[in-house]
Amino acid sequence: MRIVILESAQAVSHRAADIMCELLNDKPNAVLGLATGGTPLATYDELVVRYNQQEVSFAQATSFNLDEYVDMSPEHAQSYHTFMRENLFRHIDIDASNCHLPDGASDNHWRACEHYEQLIDQAGGIDLQLLGIGTDGHIAFNEPGSSLASRTRLKALTEQTRRDNARFFDSLEDVPRLAITMGIGTILEAHDIVLLATGAGKAGAVRAFVEGPVTAQVPASALQMHPNVTVLLDEDAASWLVRTDYYRQVEAVQRSLET
Ligand code: F6R
Repeated sequence: MRIVILESAQAVSHRAADIMCELLNDKPNAVLGLATGGTPLATYDELVVRYNQQEVSFAQATSFNLDEYVDMSPEHAQSYHTFMRENLFRHIDIDASNCHLPDGASDNHWRACEHYEQLIDQAGGIDLQLLGIGTDGHIAFNEPGSSLASRTRLKALTEQTRRDNARFFDSLEDVPRLAITMGIGTILEAHDIVLLATGAGKAGAVRAFVEGPVTAQVPASALQMHPNVTVLLDEDAASWLVRTDYYRQVEAVQRSLET
């Protein structure tokens, strides 16, 4: 894993936008894996800025989001469909018919999960998957204990995740208990993965997945098994890491090789 420690959350979002724009400029019909939540918001804002400055186009791109709440209509204010529409899709030139999220409102969840996997396959797989991380180490909604080989499926949210996400809802009671999520096995098939973590609240989860063992109890630790993972951290999220001097040294060498 390439561990990149940057001076601020804004620098994290700019670096993530750099990586995504570079891909889209090299491969305009790239398949993007997208995340919701608070962390990628600044990256989406930055992508909109770059789109408005005509530095990037999404016209030929396809996207697949990691997850969606179950039994929530796509029009619901807190659905991830709405989140993506309001925070990214409606501000850029991506074709809405190429933007995919799991169908949490389906009356056949099992079929909706299988269909989502088929759609990703038909698109040729995900070129670049953007990830956040939960305070309990989850990626997408793969909560601790998730199989490291899991595929898109229904998953119950932990109480910790429901409490973390309650800030987007009127009350904790309103936070759904179930979601459809890409599995860890699905995520690991992406060609490249970029995980973003900002703020001191993520420091424990970051330490566990970067420097701890690979374990289903810390789902993000499965990323240690993937050959092309970049972890973009601000100073606060990196503050519990032990080997920061080494990561900074490696990154300096890597940057000098690239320029
Ligand atoms: C969102 C997702 C989640 C979030 C994670 C962190 O699509 O899959 O795994 O990335 O819960 O959320 P924030 O960024 O709000 O801290």
